[in-house]
Amino acid sequence: MCGIVGYIGNKHPKDILLNGLKTLEYRGYDSSGIAIKNDKNIQIIKSVGKISNLEEKINNTKLIESNMGIGHTRWATHGEVNLVNAHPHQVGNITIVHNGIIENAKEIKDKLMNKGIKFKSNTDTEIACALINYNYNGDIIDAINKSTNELIGSYAFAILVKDKNMLYAVRKDSPLLLGIGDNEFFIASDLSAIIKYTNKYILLDENEIVELSDTYRIIKNNKIVKKEILIADVNDELVSKCGYEHYMLKEIMEEPVVLENTLKPYLDNLNLLPDISKYKEIHIVGCGSALYAGMIGKNLLEEKANVKVLCEVASEYRYKNIIYDRKTLVILISQSGETADTIAALRKAKKYGIDTLSIVNVKTSTISRESDSRIFIEAGKEVAVATTKAYILQAAILSLIAYKTALKRKSISDKSILNEFRKLPKLLSEVINRDDYIRIAKEIYKSSNVFFIGRKIDYSICLEGSLKLKEISYIHCEAKEAGELKHGTISLIDNDIPVFGIITDKDIADKTISNIEEVKSRGAKVIVITNIELNKYDYEILVPKVNDFCQSLLVVPTLQLIAYEIAKLRGCDIDKPKNLAKSVTVE
Ligand code: G6P
Repeated sequence: MCGIVGYIGNKHPKDILLNGLKTLEYRGYDSSGIAIKNDKNIQIIKSVGKISNLEEKINNTKLIESNMGIGHTRWATHGEVNLVNAHPHQVGNITIVHNGIIENAKEIKDKLMNKGIKFKSNTDTEIACALINYNYNGDIIDAINKSTNELIGSYAFAILVKDKNMLYAVRKDSPLLLGIGDNEFFIASDLSAIIKYTNKYILLDENEIVELSDTYRIIKNNKIVKKEILIADVNDELVSKCGYEHYMLKEIMEEPVVLENTLKPYLDNLNLLPDISKYKEIHIVGCGSALYAGMIGKNLLEEKANVKVLCEVASEYRYKNIIYDRKTLVILISQSGETADTIAALRKAKKYGIDTLSIVNVKTSTISRESDSRIFIEAGKEVAVATTKAYILQAAILSLIAYKTALKRKSISDKSILNEFRKLPKLLSEVINRDDYIRIAKEIYKSSNVFFIGRKIDYSICLEGSLKLKEISYIHCEAKEAGELKHGTISLIDNDIPVFGIITDKDIADKTISNIEEVKSRGAKVIVITNIELNKYDYEILVPKVNDFCQSLLVVPTLQLIAYEIAKLRGCDIDKPKNLAKSVTVE
C-alpha cells in the first residue's frame, strides 16, 4: 500500500505530484506529503488525512522554484497516523518516500543510534532514509546498493539527494514504474498516477536503480540495464464517475457489460479456458473478496466436478505446511495482481514446482507476470476500495472453469448451461436496476450488528455480503454457516437484529429455512434473498432462478447494492472507507 509519485523535467512538479497522489489515494489515505527540490533547497510539505488537506496546505504555502519532486500517500504500518510519521522523511542529504515494510528496521535503528544518529518519527522509512544517508559519501548508487543489501522486507523508494540534481528510485516486492515523457520522467506506484502525462513506461524489476535527470539510466549490480518501453492504452487508465454519486455504484452498474466482455471469448470457444481437469487437487488462494470469489469456485468444483479443492486465505497459505501430495494446481485470485500475501503464496507454490494459474485484472501486475498461466478479467479500472465488479468477474470465471471441468470429467453433460451464461448479463442488469434494496437499507441502517446465514455456496455468498457491508458501513457483520449458528452465535440474536438468509441451493433450502425460523422466533428481523418464491417473510428479495453455476452472480450484486445504500444512509465515505486500501502491498 502507500502510493508514490515522482517527477523531474521542465515544469514545476506541484500539480503533477498532487494529481498523481489524488489518483493513488486508493492505496491509502492516512496522510500525505511532497518534497520539491532546486539547486539550493528541498522543501517538504506534509498533512494528515486525505490529499485534499495536503492540497489546501500546498496552496497556502509559498513554494520554491523547482523542476523535480516526490510525493507520497500513506497507509500507516510503522508508527501512528500523524504529521511526524507522514512521508517524505529527511535525514542529512537524503529525502525519501517509501511504500512497503522494512522488517529489520529495529536492528538497523539500534545500529544507527549507537553511532549517534537520532530519529524523529516512529517509521521504518526514516530508518531506511538514515541508512542510505549513513552509507552516502558522494556515490549515491553505491549508497543505495549498500543499504538495500542490508534491508529485509519490501520497499519502493523515490529518493532526492541534497547535492544532486537528479531523482532516484528503487524497488523490491512493492510496485514501481518509470514513466517516460518528452524531456521529462515520472516515477509511480501505478500507471494511473501519470497517464495524464505519458503512456510510455518501463516496469522496474527487483533492485534496479533508476537515475533520472535529462535522461534516464537503469542500473543493476553496477551495470546499465536495457529495458523494453511499454505503451499503455490511455482509455484503460482514465476513469471518471460518469455522473454516479460514487465509484462503487458506477462499478456495480458496469457489472453486466464487463461480465459480457469477460465471458464472451470463452463462451464462443470453451477451449480458450485452461483445462484443469487433469489435476487431482486444486488450491485456490486470495485475500478479501478475491478469496470469497474463490469460495464460489471451490463449491462448484467440488459439487459439480468432484475435484478436491482447498480454498485458503493467502496470508495463511504462505506460512502453512501445505502438503502437496497429489498433482496440484494453485489458482491465485487477485484484482490488482499486487497483493503481497497472494504474491508470496504464488512464489511458495512455484518453489515447490507446483503449476500456477492466476485470475487477475491488471495485466502487467506481478502475479500475472510470475504465474505459469493467467486469465484476465476485463473489469477495467476499479476505483472504489471495496471491490464489486472485479469480484463478480473472478467468481464468473471460476464458475465457467468449474462448468468446463465438470464437462471434461463427465460429471455433467448439460450443454444448455452455456446459454444461461450467455443470458447472465441481461439478467444481472435487471437485478441491479431494481430498487427494493432501498427499503431494506432504510430498515436496517441504524443497526450495530448484522448477520448473514446460508449453507454451502450460499454461505460463500454470505461471506462476501458480510464483508461488503462491514467494510463500507462500519457495522459489525458476521457470516455464519446456517447450521452452525446454534453453537454460539445465536446467543447474539435479539429483537430487531437483522439477519440475512441466503437460499439458492434448493437441495438444502429447507434446512436453511429452519435456521431462519430459529432466529425469527428470537426476534430477528429476517431478510431473505432467494430464487425460490417463499412469500413467507416481510423482507424477501426474489432473484431470477438460473443454473447453479450462474446463481451466485445474481445474488451478490443485490448484497453489494444493499451495502451501498446502507453506507450512504450512514453518511460513510463509501469509495474510501477508513483504515482500508485497495491494493494491499504489505503483509
Ligand atoms: C483489499 C481490498 C479488497 C480486495 C483485497 C484483495 O483488501 O480492499 O477489496 O478484495 O484487497 O485484493 P486483490 O487486488 O488481491 O484482489
